[in-house]
Amino acid sequence: MSPRVVLFDAFGTLFDVRGVEARCAALVGEVGPALCGSWREAQLRYSWLASLMDRWEPFDAITARALDYAAALHGVDLAPEPRAELLAAHDALPLFPEVASALSRLDDATLGVLSNGSPAMLKAVLGAAGIAARFDHVFSASQARVFKPSPRVYALATNALGVSADECLFVSSNNWDVAGAAAFGFRAVYLHRSGRPEETLGAAATATIPSLAGLAALL
Ligand code: LAC
Repeated sequence: MSPRVVLFDAFGTLFDVRGVEARCAALVGEVGPALCGSWREAQLRYSWLASLMDRWEPFDAITARALDYAAALHGVDLAPEPRAELLAAHDALPLFPEVASALSRLDDATLGVLSNGSPAMLKAVLGAAGIAARFDHVFSASQARVFKPSPRVYALATNALGVSADECLFVSSNNWDVAGAAAFGFRAVYLHRSGRPEETLGAAATATIPSLAGLAALL
């Protein structure tokens, strides 16, 4: 049975979070790429920890806080201007090269984004990439005031669309997100961009694809 809706994670799945590295290197020097790696790692970790603490803070605030930690970790004294520039670059991350053509092959499907990003971040990044119009729905964790992989975030889509979880295909390159989506009951597709071994979280993907070019064949 074809899924009734195809949902996408945003950061790392549609948008290349490493797209800030060159700008970061230009601003802070050769430590830039490592700083960006620590930034992403802290961004995710802070989101999960905030959720466990029952302490709500939107993803843009967490992203800024994580950047400050990553800068300190790498001994960079980040002035307000480059800090603002890096946060703006995060709102204009590039698409992975195959995304636009892969989306155009899903013409008949109802598409949505389901992301930890705040509504403002998602509006900015989808708009900058010129793909906002392709999505029928944008679900932000801000609506649930908790972050993925909490089931309350995945449930935003099923509740709003009146569909069951197994009628939704959910695609993410973030393995922890795939596990969360599978545990929720989505048909979870692992977009295996990293080349790392798969996590052993105990909730498995229904399919694994190396690039979004393989998605249309799953519908
Ligand atoms: C997202 C990030 C966390 O939900 O990858 O878009």
